[in-house]
Amino acid sequence: MSSVVLLLSGPNLNLLGTREPDVYGTETLDDHVATATATAAVHDLEIEHFQSNHEGELIEAIQGARDRVAAIVINPGALTHSSWAIHDALAAFSGVIVELHLSNPKARESWRHVSVVAPVATGSIVGFGGDGYRLAIEAVAAQLAP
Ligand code: DQA
Repeated sequence: MSSVVLLLSGPNLNLLGTREPDVYGTETLDDHVATATATAAVHDLEIEHFQSNHEGELIEAIQGARDRVAAIVINPGALTHSSWAIHDALAAFSGVIVELHLSNPKARESWRHVSVVAPVATGSIVGFGGDGYRLAIEAVAAQLAP
């Protein structure tokens, strides 16, 4: 079985560190990728990270993960609340899927309360800030454990 975990970051997450730090914290995306990579190493897993502000590029990354990686951890940013195309791409992936958010969308504006990704995810980790990246990889490792 593959030991690769694809970590996907959606629109505007490249701005973490300076983007609404009161909501998303001051750590950068590179910091979060480092957390995920260090956690993965403990479990003999390898992180492959891809960030895009473009829905189609994220869909192509999900398609490219089929039959190649063991799990996808995805923070789709605002596409969480609207992208049925990402929903469908994830539905065609047969491994573990973790939906990840720094903030707790359910505690925010009403338009963030719906996730079209959640129904095709194995589970969701929300609201724990940067620690969510560690928790998401721990969850993947537990799911992949024999
Ligand atoms: C987010 C939550 C989304 O509602 C928002 O659009 C983001 C970030 C989070 O990590 O908390 O871009 O996915």
